[in-house]
Amino acid sequence: MASKSVSGLFLITICVIVCCVSCFEFEVGGPEGWVVPPANDSKLYNDWASENRFRVGDNIHFKYLKDSVMAVTEAEYKKCNSTRPAFFSNTGNTVYVFNHSGSFYFISGVSGHCEKGQRMIVKVMSSDESESGRGSSPSSSSAASPVAPAELFPVFPASMLVPFVLALAHVVSVSF
Ligand SMILES: *[C@@H]1O[C@H](CO)[C@@H](O)[C@H](O)[C@H]1NC(C)=O
Ligand SMILES: *[C@@H]1O[C@H](CO)[C@@H](O)[C@H](O)[C@H]1NC(C)=O
Ligand SMILES: *[C@@H]1O[C@H](CO)[C@@H](O)[C@H](O)[C@H]1NC(C)=O
Repeated sequence: MASKSVSGLFLITICVIVCCVSCFEFEVGGPEGWVVPPANDSKLYNDWASENRFRVGDNIHFKYLKDSVMAVTEAEYKKCNSTRPAFFSNTGNTVYVFNHSGSFYFISGVSGHCEKGQRMIVKVMSSDESESGRGSSPSSSSAASPVAPAELFPVFPASMLVPFVLALAHVVSVSF
């Protein structure tokens, strides 16, 4: 009995780590997606970005129609210069992975859109930065590192995790 509940807990721990650490995906702009923001809300994307905590390994998802996403330098961002982007996509469904810490600059490649506020700065924390202040031992963003689920709660809203863990606990208790 004891070993069964221990292995159940272990499974839940693994699932939480795999689902929330290695595949955390941010949806840019919520339901509206990546669009020219309303005239009275031109800081929409930077406001959204500053409300989130991004870490190395996280993904960002841009959803849009007849538009594009470019990753550019800071100088290009400031000038809405889309002539030589480091990254370009116009598939309508773009996933970008943050492969290092620091600032990432995104603009729309459609003429005039960046100037109207369809641009965004994302600040990505290194694993060390994101762990500091939470009193935990350093851990990498690798899925293989042992991260206790409790350490994840400050990052992800509990409302997202609780139903998931409860459902999983139910499945596990039925199958054992
Ligand atoms: C922008 O204007 C719309 C329509 O007038 C309004 O509903 C919305 O609350 C305004 N947004 C901001 C951020 O002021
Ligand atoms: C835009 O960026 C490119 C490449 O970084 C540069 O060569 C060009 O001079 C820039 N144009 C303007 C108007 O700043
Ligand atoms: C991150 O990805 C970009 C674009 O794919 C690449 O040029 C860069 O070298 C990568 N950086 C690291 C630290 O892997």
